[in-house]
Amino acid sequence: MEKPRSPGRRAAMRNSLNKSLAAGAAMVLAATTARAQGPRGAAMRAPLPGSMDERRILAVIEDVHRNHQYLSVPQEDGRLLRLLAESTGAKHVVELGTSTGYSGLWLLLALSRTGGRLTTFEADRGRNQTARGNFDRAGLLPLATLVLGDAHVEAAKLKDPIDLLFLDADKEGYLDYLRRLGPLVRVGGLIVAHNMASPPPDPRYVAAVTTDPALETVFLNMHDAGLGVTLKKR
Ligand SMILES: C[S@@+](CC[C@H](N)C(=O)[O-])C[C@H]1O[C@@H](n2cnc3c(N)ncnc32)[C@H](O)[C@@H]1O
Repeated sequence: MEKPRSPGRRAAMRNSLNKSLAAGAAMVLAATTARAQGPRGAAMRAPLPGSMDERRILAVIEDVHRNHQYLSVPQEDGRLLRLLAESTGAKHVVELGTSTGYSGLWLLLALSRTGGRLTTFEADRGRNQTARGNFDRAGLLPLATLVLGDAHVEAAKLKDPIDLLFLDADKEGYLDYLRRLGPLVRVGGLIVAHNMASPPPDPRYVAAVTTDPALETVFLNMHDAGLGVTLKKR
């Protein structure tokens, strides 16, 4: 039979149990902190403005994200669009599917650094007007041409070379856009297509950008809507 424990021994056991619990909690906290500080946690951190005007633009982008978006790209894709446009020094970006201007604002932020301009197409009058207001609030309207109408008709009228073409209008129209506007994309330029993971993309578009030796395509952020990034090779 077990002997009754003395008060001193009971206190010692409580102490030891408390220490084990504290050590366990510390390990969980350390793992959580490591996750938050690692790349996955860092990816969730808000973009940091490097100047006053970037702060103002990012504030409008955040407001549109929270209050005025309609089927907009996820923030991670918006940030990637900005990186692609800014790092390639894009001077002319063409976007199909303006919606309320969320992705357009990320592109315009880049273009305000590269000295470039955006031409963006939207079929819906209300969304076209909302986007205009959002670009204006961000002080970026002078860099944008917003075209109201069917992009299959209106964008086909473009003549100027394109540095980055962003496809985000009707998903079944991507192949037609590629055929009509691909020739305007300069050699070394990019064609970025949204929704390469969800909703399922048009397999004819995927085949067109992955089987042409003149193009190099990678797929990014496929855990979410997914982006196809295609380089028109030199
Ligand atoms: C997914 S939303 C675009 C989201 C936007 N790029 C963003 O991230 O903020 C698609 C938009 O394309 C527009 N659209 C669909 N078909 C179109 C067409 N043929 N011509 C122009 N716009 C079209 C829709 O009205 C809708 O606003």
